[in-house]
Amino acid sequence: MIDDLRLQADYCQKTSPLYAALYTHLAALYQDRADGRADPDLQVFFETVDHCWAGRSFTAWFERPLLLAGAIHEQVLQGNAPELSRFYASCGGDFSPSQSEALGNAVSQVLGDRHRHMVPFLSQETIQTNETSRGLAWLLPVLAYWQKARPDITLIELGCSAGLGLVADGYGYRVHGPAERVWAQEGDPNFEVTLGGAGAEQAFASLADMPALSAAITRRIGCDLNPLDCRQENQKRILEALIWPDNAPRLARLRAAIKTQDQYDLCFERGDMVACVKHLSARSFANTPMVVVFNTVASCYLDDDHYTTLCRAIADTFNGPWADKECVWVEFEMPRTGEALPDFAQGQEQLVKVHRPDGKGDLGTHYFGAAMAHPTEIEIFQGA
Ligand SMILES: C[S@@+](CC[C@H](N)C(=O)[O-])C[C@H]1O[C@@H](n2cnc3c(N)ncnc32)[C@H](O)[C@@H]1O
Repeated sequence: MIDDLRLQADYCQKTSPLYAALYTHLAALYQDRADGRADPDLQVFFETVDHCWAGRSFTAWFERPLLLAGAIHEQVLQGNAPELSRFYASCGGDFSPSQSEALGNAVSQVLGDRHRHMVPFLSQETIQTNETSRGLAWLLPVLAYWQKARPDITLIELGCSAGLGLVADGYGYRVHGPAERVWAQEGDPNFEVTLGGAGAEQAFASLADMPALSAAITRRIGCDLNPLDCRQENQKRILEALIWPDNAPRLARLRAAIKTQDQYDLCFERGDMVACVKHLSARSFANTPMVVVFNTVASCYLDDDHYTTLCRAIADTFNGPWADKECVWVEFEMPRTGEALPDFAQGQEQLVKVHRPDGKGDLGTHYFGAAMAHPTEIEIFQGA
């Protein structure tokens, strides 16, 4: 834990002065405990955390530090830690590294006073976020394919978290295209994105159809191992608590997206994404002439065997029960280890891939574009 906290403090040095100081302080507290010098007022706090994590397993080194910071942030957001809120931008506060000692004292105070209230967060929550900026990564390829037939659409997101990606067509955009042209759509949150690459012209032109595409999506279904329902105050707070408090723009985007989402009817399926695909296809759930399945930063959590099973389940569904529909599966994911990429798609952080039935019972893949995980620029490949 001490090493993990120190690593996390280093990781935050450039991006979050508040969390760099918070993790440094937490590492010092845990070091004191390891050295037998723990503050007696914090003894019960340590026991509470040990108890919460006794039956849990963590795979990534950053999970416990982020959970602990999230549990503290949740207390601040709930108004239960006034001594800390003056440092937390998410609650109107402000922090500079010169205040590290005062922050440390306030953190110790809150841990001593509030550790029992942190038990549900520490014992039940996982590191689960929902980034709202990934909408165009799946919308642009859908616009490209939808133009031909323009039917109604059932939209299914795999690994949807809180389902904020499912309403990305309702967000605001200011998209910079070739020849300094700009396409804009009103809405909140509002994303500024630049399109580049050989296919940018065509992708930019397709944006004019966004309102019609939006109107054509008649059903929106999200699937996740643990879907978060933003209409529940406590679940909304989990998403907020896991955003770093001094990342005010991201927090504002999240809050705006939640408000936008509230205007839509969504339906959620809890479970593994493979089971979800099979379940939806068996129930003839999609009664529209087009079905769009998409996932953003979610299939990367599947190992190779699991991913192969997912591909098979989608291929069988597209070529079987939904064979009479126009079906498309869009992924915005990092390249998989060993994935045979065309030259133009090499070396990218995240790829936009479009899979469609190949007419032989399987799926054909088209590499549509590439971007960073939080896209502000999207490169559209040739022939997209
Ligand atoms: C990093 S989050 C991304 C969430 C959202 N797609 C986004 O871009 O913000 C990954 C999500 O995938 C979900 N997930 C991971 N493995 C899954 C699986 N096997 N089946 C369904 N959902 C899964 C997690 O619960 C989590 O909500």
